[in-house]
Amino acid sequence: MKEALENLEREALSEIQGAEKKEEFLDIRTRYLGRKGLLTGILRKLKEIPSEDRPAMGDLSNRIKNRISREIEAALELCEAKVRDEGLLRDAIDVTLPGRSVTRGKLHPISQTMKEICAIFGALGFSVMEGPEVELDYYNFEALNIPKDHPARDMQDTFYIAGDTVLRTHTSPVQVRTMEKHRPPVRILSPGKVYRPDSDISHTPMFHQVEGLLVDRGISFGDLKGVLGYFLRDIFGDNRKVRFRPSFFPFTEPSAEVDIECVICGGEGCRICGQSGWLEILGCGMVDPAVYLNVGYDPEEYTGFAFGLGVERIAMLKYGITDIRLFFENDKRFLDQF
Ligand code: PHE
Repeated sequence: MKEALENLEREALSEIQGAEKKEEFLDIRTRYLGRKGLLTGILRKLKEIPSEDRPAMGDLSNRIKNRISREIEAALELCEAKVRDEGLLRDAIDVTLPGRSVTRGKLHPISQTMKEICAIFGALGFSVMEGPEVELDYYNFEALNIPKDHPARDMQDTFYIAGDTVLRTHTSPVQVRTMEKHRPPVRILSPGKVYRPDSDISHTPMFHQVEGLLVDRGISFGDLKGVLGYFLRDIFGDNRKVRFRPSFFPFTEPSAEVDIECVICGGEGCRICGQSGWLEILGCGMVDPAVYLNVGYDPEEYTGFAFGLGVERIAMLKYGITDIRLFFENDKRFLDQF
């Protein structure tokens, strides 16, 4: 019997040695150690041997059983480790690959310029008001002292939406909307989009303006010049030449336009400034009494000034951009420079 047990042990161990897969080990275990396995088969004959030899055979068979068990457990564990390693290898992450960088968004140069303009006037106490882009004829024209059939309407070609609705041609209607709601003192700034059917290197059908309005008692043209002069020095620096040129707007009297020395040609005259050496960047003037009457202000009591800045013009001058259309092509190579 001893010999049979030892043979069994040897065979089992050599089978374990030769096996590779999990299923093979499980099969060996059942065949040798299972309830109807080879070991049990041998032990059935235990009762046939002399009783004094039985304990020794019992011991031996237990040792053999444990040994085979241990070997199989160890082999199974190795199998599992192998499967795990293979999985890890298959799903491996190559930590040496360069990562995907997160690109940061930023403000469009026009938005940046508008923010800058608002910050400068904000420091002077102007607060921001907004108005609708689809505007009533009344606010865009009529209340600003531009009656129907008045030749002044030709100054601003207009996109009409319907009979009395237009795409606002300027931000000046916000002046009227503000004064209708608030009594003086009024000190507001209104940035936004405006629309005119125009298109060439210095005009786009949509562009941006910032409107300013200050009304109180005793406001003079000197205040207008002081405020705008401060603004222009802040945004363009002390050395850039500016000039106030008499002009006409139906809603201001007197009116002026402000030109700045062309930054592209330094005043020599070029394609951008139409050979004049100057670029117009804003319209302004003292609010016309006719406008006060439309909003219920007493023109004898209050005076004030208004101005409208062209944001694209200012951005072009600040950054030396020679074609306004670049702002609207959204070419990342262009936008990334700001
Ligand atoms: N609204 C005028 C324009 O777009 C500019 C302006 C604003 C002029 C305020 C005077 C006062 O041309």
